[in-house]
Amino acid sequence: MRTKIIAGNWKMNKTVQEGIVLIEEILKSAGKLQHENLQIILAPPFPLLGMASALTSDYRFISISAQNCYYKNNGAFTGEVSPAMIKSTGANHVIIGHSERRMYFHEDNSLLSEKIKVALQNGLTPVYCCGETLSERNEASHYDIIKNQLEETIFSLDEEEIIKIVIAYEPVWAIGTGVNATPEQAQEMHRFIRTQVALKFKDDIAEKIPILYGGSVKPENAYSLFSCTDIDGGLIGGASLNSNDFVAIINSMVEILRKK
Ligand code: PGA
Repeated sequence: MRTKIIAGNWKMNKTVQEGIVLIEEILKSAGKLQHENLQIILAPPFPLLGMASALTSDYRFISISAQNCYYKNNGAFTGEVSPAMIKSTGANHVIIGHSERRMYFHEDNSLLSEKIKVALQNGLTPVYCCGETLSERNEASHYDIIKNQLEETIFSLDEEEIIKIVIAYEPVWAIGTGVNATPEQAQEMHRFIRTQVALKFKDDIAEKIPILYGGSVKPENAYSLFSCTDIDGGLIGGASLNSNDFVAIINSMVEILRKK
């Protein structure tokens, strides 16, 4: 069975002190959130990575992720953070290509491709995000957009590298809007992504890669989304900032796993 993943993307929220409170609240439920096939990822802002890694170090099923990285190992790049620095905090994942990075910071596929390579070289697992805008979906170009976002980034990796990637499908129109993709819409795109991976690499590689859904996942819709065959978990924004909601979302996945 593919590893299931629930990841919380805190975005630019929480101070160190607030982050400690949130993590301690989540850890109170740690016992019931544990399952051999489930990995929980917390992605706080850079200044919180060391603290988050230290607080969760006794919980092997919890990993820490950065939300971004630079594509150079070091040097005169004021304000940037390298994958090696992220790794040195104890974090082992990094979100790359989130639509907010693409939109507000003009990150394109060629830059993201560089970031993915350098992240992998430094032993970080990239959580690579792709997703179409509402107008692209309305124009029915969403499949072409996603295909292009895959082809120009992770499809230049070799087999040993691609197997280390986590993909997150996050339709831009669903992020922070309260309007989630329906389980049918999400499943359809996840299937499409898995098929593209199989066509480019091999069937068994495609079968192993976790594909997460992101965009207005809430306790109310998590179960139906995570029940879909090709949806291996979620990348959760707003709802990951509230421990009750985040724990309830993780519980939906645990419930599904226990029925298998
Ligand atoms: P949301 O964000 O859950 O608040 O829609 C998801 C994301 O941007 O990763």
